[in-house]
Amino acid sequence: MGDEMDFNPYYGVFPYRDFIKTEGIPVIEAYSVDCHTVALEPWERLGGLGAYVHLAGKSDFLSAYVVEIPPGGELKPEQHMHDELMHVISGRGATVIEDPDGKKHSFEWGPTAIFGIPMNAKHQIFNGSGTEPARLAAVTDLPIIFNIFHRPEFIFENPFTFPERSETDRYYEGEGEFRKIKPGRHQWETNFVPDLVNFELPPWIARGAAGNNIQFLLGDSSMHCHISQFFEGTYKKAHAHNAGAHIFCVTGKGYSLLWKQGENPVDAMRVDWKPGTLYAPPDGPTYHQHFNVSQEQSRYLVFDFGGSRYPVLDSKMWIYENMDRSETAGGMQIEYEDEDPRIHELFEEELGKRGLRSRMHEFIPSRTA
Ligand SMILES: [Fe+2]
Repeated sequence: MGDEMDFNPYYGVFPYRDFIKTEGIPVIEAYSVDCHTVALEPWERLGGLGAYVHLAGKSDFLSAYVVEIPPGGELKPEQHMHDELMHVISGRGATVIEDPDGKKHSFEWGPTAIFGIPMNAKHQIFNGSGTEPARLAAVTDLPIIFNIFHRPEFIFENPFTFPERSETDRYYEGEGEFRKIKPGRHQWETNFVPDLVNFELPPWIARGAAGNNIQFLLGDSSMHCHISQFFEGTYKKAHAHNAGAHIFCVTGKGYSLLWKQGENPVDAMRVDWKPGTLYAPPDGPTYHQHFNVSQEQSRYLVFDFGGSRYPVLDSKMWIYENMDRSETAGGMQIEYEDEDPRIHELFEEELGKRGLRSRMHEFIPSRTA
């Protein structure tokens, strides 16, 4: 009976899963990965070396991959009827994106840059160095698109065009449009952000520890992208939401605690991170909380399904409205005063091991450092 289930073509068919079996590259299933070192294999379809990364919290909508372009090399030109957000892990290079009328936009990138491939725009990615490889990580909504439409020709050979998503020249020149919404939801609308480390961020105090944040809208995509910053000797408030958030550490060093309702927060799941670490809190939903144990600011980047411009799902819009509201007020955030005291104790201990000082007394007056 079990075997029969495995081979039944009329039940439980996931065309995305069938497709990636034909790709000839590893599919890494993990809670977290280091994008710098994850093992890659030659990728016939796209060129370069690649691996799919299916994180525990990838969600039904998304998947990720890491691709490496050898020195002096390039990926094959492609276009696809799905969204794709890219983050440069290492190396330098250039991307060319073509408008439907044939006009080409070209921009050069280095470590920490992000860009969006506008829906179905022809594009190609080049390594700009003759001596160093370049590594990029991408998060796409290919799984949901494939599982709905089934046919690779629809996704990879579709003539329909979306000029409005690709034709703004200045969006490839490191420029963009600031869209004022409210703290934690302000948007920067562009197609390319060259440097995530020095990008100026507006304040977002509601998530704690004098943090800063901005939402990016890349290529008018319906995917979510944001970056948050928090400072040395601090940690942010815990919060929960459904799976999908692919979190990249961009700068700093620290750890995140992840736990489900009722679990011991310091003894459930811990991800230690440094630049290049990628992880995704699974469904549950899973509470997660970020701790900076380095001597510098930490910034992390998130790619997810459903952006603040186009949430797609009503449930996603609910998250945008409630993500930094206290649980006691019907939201999904645990205020410092309400958190399990073992969380703060562990943080002090981790800082102590490194000879660093906590700044949390500035944000939690009831606890002295
Ligand atoms: Fe989160």
